[in-house]
Amino acid sequence: MAVLRRHACETLHETQTVSRTSQQFEQHRQYLAGGVSASTRVNRAIGRGMLFDRAAGPYVWDLDGRRYIDLCTSHGATLLGHGDERVARAVTDVIARGAACSYENELHGELARRLCETVPCCQRVRFTGSGTEATLHCIRLARAFTGRTKLLKFEGNFHGYHDQVMFSINTPREQLGDETNPTVWPASTGMLPELAVQLVVVPYNRPDLVQRAFERHGRELAAAICEPIYYNAGCIRPTAEFMSTLRRATRDHGALLIFDEVLSAFRMGPGGAQEHLAITPDLCTLGKAVGGGYPLSVFGGRADIMERLMPIGDCQHSGTYNGHPVAVAAGIAANAAYREPGFYEHINRVGERLYGGLNAAFARHGVPGRAVGLGARFGIYFGIDGEVRNYRDALKHDRALMLRFIAAAIDEGVYFHDYGGAACHHGFCAAMTEADVDDALARLDTAIARLAAAL
Ligand SMILES: Cc1ncc(COP(=O)(O)O)c(C=O)c1O
Repeated sequence: MAVLRRHACETLHETQTVSRTSQQFEQHRQYLAGGVSASTRVNRAIGRGMLFDRAAGPYVWDLDGRRYIDLCTSHGATLLGHGDERVARAVTDVIARGAACSYENELHGELARRLCETVPCCQRVRFTGSGTEATLHCIRLARAFTGRTKLLKFEGNFHGYHDQVMFSINTPREQLGDETNPTVWPASTGMLPELAVQLVVVPYNRPDLVQRAFERHGRELAAAICEPIYYNAGCIRPTAEFMSTLRRATRDHGALLIFDEVLSAFRMGPGGAQEHLAITPDLCTLGKAVGGGYPLSVFGGRADIMERLMPIGDCQHSGTYNGHPVAVAAGIAANAAYREPGFYEHINRVGERLYGGLNAAFARHGVPGRAVGLGARFGIYFGIDGEVRNYRDALKHDRALMLRFIAAAIDEGVYFHDYGGAACHHGFCAAMTEADVDDALARLDTAIARLAAAL
């Protein structure tokens, strides 16, 4: 790769070399808004989107042929690894059969059965294309079923890009408001301000404030939606008291409990976070890993609620590409792999080695970083000593230091993504071996040593 220059990029930390990859990004900017197909694909640690030419297992190669160990894993979609052979075979087979989309075939029934067998709350499911669509339809269904309109969401929890839920995500510190009454902060322009009044926002892991919100608004709430493992702020586990309060309060007030498992599903077990926590919601969404790297999402739950959907009931959910046979075939192959004996033992072994090794490297070099993970996904908090229980705690994270760490890691051949929020989630895939972890740790040790020398 031709090394032309190193340069600083605004307040960001571009240490990448100018290369075919960055030149191509510049060309993209002439036609693609911002040079990317999705806003969050710009990685602020390098000041641009990353372009990969090919991928295999736990590796991605950029346009210059440089290999990286991928600790983003398609933002969580490729839990099996890139180009998994079982998924590729299923996809090739269905394409050979014509992949007739917008019709039903036997694959839909098979994937639905598998999901209902493995995800505790799912008695019926429906397929959609993205996590955003899944939460949109799930919330509509909750409103249809209860005849109520308000939604309780947790401060910082992310549920996709539609207008019903893009509030109180990445709220700037000065806009947070009091924790007993957080500001319903719009995370984008262009959204209807009237939608804000439909939301009740509560800080995560505060059972006292959940109780209080239900006392005030319980009779108006159609549902409470949450990330059952709050990975969008790194990796925050709910306390048992928080979860049991939420489950009890929703039941007592006739509101539905929705677990948004777009990111958490399959990460630590085949039944997702709901199985791990032993809390069964009324409805849930599944995304990313559910499609084995292909665009598939799911919402599902109690049969009596799901049968409120047309054509049995009166709540609409449809779409030309819903349950595209390529994605459904990939989903079946992925689901079979997640259920293979030893799958999660391997995930846990790799996770322990990676998270433990990272923490040892931070300690060795005196860099205030801390990796916290559950299953195949994790966060790294910089500059926070205490426990991170919610978004307000995560905001204490030293984002500038994280960007420097990510830039140094990319320089050393380990890819981490930055999503622009307080703390980010990262992850590894099942194709990652313990030898790959050791390779990643050796590279990250160098990156952290460089960071320490510059502090
Ligand atoms: C918890 C959660 N819900 C919903 C979404 C939106 O999913 P998608 O990007 O597939 O629309 C995401 C995406 O990261 C997510 O993490």
